[in-house]
Parts: sequence; structure tokens; C-alpha cells
Amino acid sequence: MLKIGIINGPNLNMLGKRDQKIYGNITLKEINRKIKSFAEKEGIELTIMQTNFEGEIVESIQKLSSQLDGFIINPAAYTHYSYVIADALRDCPIPVIEVHLSNILSREDFRRKSVTAPACIGQIAGFGYQSYILAIRALCSLVPSEGEG
Ligand code: DQA
Repeated sequence: MLKIGIINGPNLNMLGKRDQKIYGNITLKEINRKIKSFAEKEGIELTIMQTNFEGEIVESIQKLSSQLDGFIINPAAYTHYSYVIADALRDCPIPVIEVHLSNILSREDFRRKSVTAPACIGQIAGFGYQSYILAIRALCSLVPSEGEG
């Protein structure tokens, strides 16, 4: 069974309340429910976490690297300036995909740059909660399943 993790960064716990014009009114709990139900149908074991702390993201990246087949990260605002997270991702031996709910390229200048995406296999942004589902699909195609070699 494919094991995938999702790491969500700061303020994503506030979805549903924060900037609804950008993020809509969906909560993180609802997003997680949709992603879990997709993963269940695909036979994927999913671990999801959210933290508002940079160091906790680094520790999770280090820990998950040895436990999972791949993971998805939404570093939230850390995307734009955290070399600490970028370095942790660079040291990570399993495939990582960066996701964003919003299309960061169409927003303020400071959001157009990701310092973390170059340390990932790729980035998916702008599809709301579907960004996560697209990233799971991408990971499935990257990680050979058992018996496939
Ligand atoms: C975000 C985009 C970031 O710029 C922002 O700081 C977030 C959410 C997104 O998913 O669209 O917190 O990562």
C-alpha cells in the first residue's frame, strides 16, 4: 500500500475564515475529508498534519522521509522565504510535491516566488483542494507500486 503524507503550514487551520475571496469558505477539516475519501478509494495510506511552526515542518519532513513513499507540502507563507524548509526538502530522499490552493503566480509580487518549489519534484497551484488530489495522482504515477518493480 502506497504511503503518502501531507504537511500543511501556517494559517491553513484558519481556512473557512481567512480571505474567502481567495480561498473560499471550505475549512481544512472539509478539505481533509475530501482528500481522505479520494485516498481511500485509491487504496492509499494517508497521513495529514498541519502546524503553524517552521521547526515542526522541518522535523516532520525529516521524520516522514523514512516512513513514507512520498509527500505533499503546502508550506503556506513559508513558501516565499523559508530556506530552512527548502534545505530540509533538498535532503529528503523521497519525492515531494508542493501544492497551493490559490494560483500564487496571479497574486502579490512576494507570492510569485517560491524558494521551496525548486527543492520539490514540481508544484501544483490554483486548483483549490483539488491541488492536493492532483498531487496525490502525480505521486502515484511517480512511485512504483508493489510488484511493479
Ligand atoms: C497558500 C499561498 C501562500 O502564499 C499563502 O501564504 C498561504 C496559502 C495557498 O495554498 O494558496 O497561506 O500556500
